[in-house]
Amino acid sequence: KFKFIILQPDAVLPALKELSVCILLRRNFATHWTAFVYKAPGSKDIELGLGGISSYLTVWLFGQEHHIEVELKLDEWHSVCLTWSGQAQRLRIYINGTCLHEAPVKPSLRQELAQNGTLTLGVSHYVDANGEVQQESGNNLLGDIGLFGIWEREWGAEELRRPSCADGDVVSWDLRQWKHTCPPVPDNSLYCGKYIVKSFCYIL
Ligand SMILES: *[C@@H]1O[C@H](CO)[C@@H](O)[C@H](O)[C@H]1NC(C)=O
Ligand SMILES: *[C@@H]1O[C@H](CO)[C@@H](O)[C@H](O)[C@H]1NC(C)=O
Repeated sequence: KFKFIILQPDAVLPALKELSVCILLRRNFATHWTAFVYKAPGSKDIELGLGGISSYLTVWLFGQEHHIEVELKLDEWHSVCLTWSGQAQRLRIYINGTCLHEAPVKPSLRQELAQNGTLTLGVSHYVDANGEVQQESGNNLLGDIGLFGIWEREWGAEELRRPSCADGDVVSWDLRQWKHTCPPVPDNSLYCGKYIVKSFCYIL
């Protein structure tokens, strides 16, 4: 059985007019993968998300997909940050602190991230008729997550250039905020010296 972690129901995301989200991840297998998926209440579309396959990253924002050609080599840690500003109508994608992609976000799209949605790490999900979060199979991350955070501000290139260990002010890497079926593993090899979550921790 695949394991995944979801934001606790009592930890809610506010509506955001701009944001930054960062994740530190390490893939172990060359499969289709999902880093995180956020869905608005009652919506099937991905409000905000990140995943990939072979040498492409896919970023979802308001149901729209953006594809970026970049290879995240296996067994290495990669820091991926997305920033978005509704006012500036732009989405930026940073890998290891370098901006690789900037895309305009259509002005017709909503200018606010929907609040109170559902967020999963390492796997995509849907909400069933009983309101329970269910994982989608076939595209979960076979690897590790070392850090995740969401901030209510669009960080600039200058701020993202240096690795930061600051906790997200909207969602932080504090596992009390998360419901997880995989125990976190302390890891001192990481720059921020925290723990990692093995999203691939089932026994074959
Ligand atoms: C990001 O940095 C790490 C550590 O320096 C490196 O192993 C990894 O390959 C880098 N990722 C990319 C996509 O450049
Ligand atoms: C979002 O959740 C908070 C806290 O549970 C609640 O007070 C608020 O009414 C909710 N807002 C919407 C739009 O559902």
